[in-house]
Amino acid sequence: MIISRRMNLPCFCPVLLLALQASLLSSSMAESPQDRTQETYLQCLIDSSDPSSPPISPLAFFPSNPSYSSVLRSYVRNLRFNSSTTPKPLFIVTPTHVSHIQASVVCAKIHGLELRIRSGGHDYDGLSYVSPAPFVIVDMFNLRSVDADAEGGTAWVESGATLGEVYYAIAARSGVHAFPAGVCPTVGVGGHLSGGGYGNLMRKHGLSVDNVVDAVVVDANGRVLDRGSMGDDMFWAIRGGGGASFGVIVSWKIKLVSVPEVVTVFKVEKTLEQGATDVVHRWQYVADKVDERLFIRVVLLPVVRKDQRTVKAKFVALFLGGADELLDVMSQSFPEFGLEPKDCLEMSWIESVLFWSNYPKGTSPNVLLQRIPESEKFLKKKSDYVQEPISKVGLEGIWNKMMELKRPALTLNPYGGRMSEISDSETPFPHREGNIFKIQYSVTWKEEGDEALNQNLNRIRSIYNHMTPFVAKSPRSSYLNYRDTDLGINQIGNESYSEASIWGTKYFKANFDRLVQVKTMVDPNNFFRYEQSIPCMSSWPSRMAE
Ligand SMILES: Cc1cc2nc3c(=O)[nH]c(=O)nc-3n(C[C@H](O)[C@H](O)[C@H](O)COP(=O)(O)OP(=O)(O)OC[C@H]3O[C@@H](n4cnc5c(N)ncnc54)[C@H](O)[C@@H]3O)c2cc1C
Ligand SMILES: *[C@@H]1O[C@H](CO)[C@@H](O)[C@H](O)[C@H]1NC(C)=O
Ligand SMILES: *[C@@H]1O[C@H](CO)[C@@H](O)[C@H](O)[C@H]1NC(C)=O
Repeated sequence: MIISRRMNLPCFCPVLLLALQASLLSSSMAESPQDRTQETYLQCLIDSSDPSSPPISPLAFFPSNPSYSSVLRSYVRNLRFNSSTTPKPLFIVTPTHVSHIQASVVCAKIHGLELRIRSGGHDYDGLSYVSPAPFVIVDMFNLRSVDADAEGGTAWVESGATLGEVYYAIAARSGVHAFPAGVCPTVGVGGHLSGGGYGNLMRKHGLSVDNVVDAVVVDANGRVLDRGSMGDDMFWAIRGGGGASFGVIVSWKIKLVSVPEVVTVFKVEKTLEQGATDVVHRWQYVADKVDERLFIRVVLLPVVRKDQRTVKAKFVALFLGGADELLDVMSQSFPEFGLEPKDCLEMSWIESVLFWSNYPKGTSPNVLLQRIPESEKFLKKKSDYVQEPISKVGLEGIWNKMMELKRPALTLNPYGGRMSEISDSETPFPHREGNIFKIQYSVTWKEEGDEALNQNLNRIRSIYNHMTPFVAKSPRSSYLNYRDTDLGINQIGNESYSEASIWGTKYFKANFDRLVQVKTMVDPNNFFRYEQSIPCMSSWPSRMAE
């Protein structure tokens, strides 16, 4: 009964809620979601779909279906959530038509099930396909068309497409267009665009969400809305607030950006013995202020060289221009780096996408169409923002901690440029002016079992604690697309504004309150809920009154 109580708590005022809870409790006493049969659910899906759309039955996978496990596993991108104890959905719907999404929403609602929406499945904490409550998955992978209109400079992209498919389609039509989004080609458009989306074009062109001009969404009532019919508030919220709190995003209209025919990349490594500390220290004063066509990422890894522990700093760059100009920019702004002509590689933008994904030179862009990564790992990630350069002594302390812990990798991504020109409240993504760079902390491992899990969670939490004095403090901030449930989660059925505001403020700063207002307006019954969904207003007046 706990389960049905958790499940049926909508986002209402508490007095109503108790009455409602009591009535739902008695009605669900006879039949819990697990007791209901496959036939009941399937019939609901059939009855709720548009009869003129393709039949939904072959697109619904129940545990009795031999393909259920492989469909479920296809987009599990973190082996922590591939275990026999990971909660499994009652069924998975793989829509080929918007009406299948509408039917899934309607039937999940009728039967009091939670709905998880999965596009590329890259959520670091598995929130697109795991839930502690009885749930179903709408898996968007069949809806993945990319309709690029290079002349008009826009494209309609379905949520189930991967970034690789988007990049491939753009490059197939134009050598001078691109889209600012993530570096990893298997990331899904659905989660990526609704959570911000950054990549190496960010300093020149901003985030993915800064380049979204329209969207098609299925809301909590099963209605299909576009930018005009959803209104400004919901269109604002889904561009960085996390789509899954507001609706199922079917497709996005994106604005393409111009890139030169020839861009330049480099990848240069330096260990501590080769002066990494000085160069990383200096990088902090340059990377967010230099020419906005230049993006220099730093990846820091503890490694062993000649039986000695050290830290390797890997600098990976994209410059939107030719090598000669890049060498000029670097010798003026960052002479300490010592960039040499032999480090620079000129290529097309699409080749730079492959370079950044570590494909060898000459690899065909067709690899961008591979949806499944070559290997899977267990992983945990966290993030921080840095607003003041870290001193050399501070950096040395960080290196020592990394060498002691052996595992965490830190990726530093510079901000500034276009990012500082967009106001904090333009979209829900608030980390704009004043941020020098973002850190991603990462542990990955291959060993199964709790021992390796706990060891690695301890490692990443330990470096995160160590970093406290060096990172943004008011609030300590995080990037939504680097999902981190350590920051706090909703108590199922008892989402409170005050608790959610702890993690909500880290992801959204002052925008959290507007997200709560939009949520309350567009989904007052809190149908679209998960561990870090935006709560409705309901819980907070009562808590304020306490
Ligand atoms: C290997 C790797 C590399 C990455 N690189 C980058 C990077 O370079 N830049 C960057 O910004 N981020 C990066 N990320 C993070 C990535 O942007 C997020 O994990 C993103 O949310 C993934 O989107 P998805 O559709 O693949 O994930 P999913 O797991 O499918 O979804 C993530 C979240 O979005 C929701 N969601 C998904 N689809 C929809 C939809 N259609 N409608 C409404 N809600 C939806 C889900 O319910 C879930 O809450 C990376 C992640 C990985 C694993
Ligand atoms: C996920 O788990 C299943 C079942 O235990 C297993 O067969 C499969 O190999 C696992 N996937 C990976 C990538 O390890
Ligand atoms: C809801 O959460 C609050 C804050 O954690 C807690 O005090 C309260 O007891 C919870 N209520 C229920 C019904 O679980």
